[in-house]
Amino acid sequence: MKNNQYYRDPKINCESDLIYIPSDDTYLITDFIKEKLNTNSFDDIKLENIKNVLDMGTGSGIIPILLLIIKKENRNFKANIYASDISEVVLKCAKNNELLNGFNSQINFIHSDLFDSFPNSLFSKFDIIFFNPPYLPLLDDSEFPKNEKDLCWDGGKGGIEIFIRFLNNVKEFLNLTHKGCIYYISSSRADQNTLERINKEKGFINKIIEKKHFFFEDIFLNKLVLSKI
Ligand SMILES: C[S@@+](CC[C@H](N)C(=O)[O-])C[C@H]1O[C@@H](n2cnc3c(N)ncnc32)[C@H](O)[C@@H]1O
Repeated sequence: MKNNQYYRDPKINCESDLIYIPSDDTYLITDFIKEKLNTNSFDDIKLENIKNVLDMGTGSGIIPILLLIIKKENRNFKANIYASDISEVVLKCAKNNELLNGFNSQINFIHSDLFDSFPNSLFSKFDIIFFNPPYLPLLDDSEFPKNEKDLCWDGGKGGIEIFIRFLNNVKEFLNLTHKGCIYYISSSRADQNTLERINKEKGFINKIIEKKHFFFEDIFLNKLVLSKI
């Protein structure tokens, strides 16, 4: 993928081992944002139609902070930025990273297990949602996640349980007026067939936008749009 070097990378400090250190999957998303967020559009969506963006499972906060950096440079990009995570420790780190990058309380942080604690005022709100979920399959049959550290990677049985829970509620929060869409990461190690079937059942069309190959897995950046609105 071509990287738009124009935007600097956020400075990120992961002060606890509970925080996901930005990795290749993260960079699939951030490189895509840098490449596709231009003066007037993002991935063919007009910037004037992007009013609210959510990063679900924000971890270090790298994605919302990159969006703030771009907002500062690009006066046409005026979206409100939201970021959510299940872990309070993780959110504290993301807030510190926001400060580290010279921004103060510009990200709307939400402490929530997926959408469970989102207020009704956020129904139909988001034009774009990013999600780099925990996507690796659980290695044994024990309860998941086993501890807070596993929240970063443990996608449960088939590696798709968290994402399917996300899919169950996400439509309520997407702004469908301008064809709100979702960008998310998945892995070839997860149960791709079931994921494909459930995406279709929920009325989404899935497009693989980018793929990275490693020794034992491929990771994908996907785009989901609703087939009928
Ligand atoms: C793979 S990390 C991605 C972090 C960051 N977005 C990135 O790309 O570097 C997954 C994140 O999802 C969060 N998470 C796990 N389960 C969650 C849930 N049920 N609701 C919200 N966030 C969750 C984890 O705490 C972790 O920060």
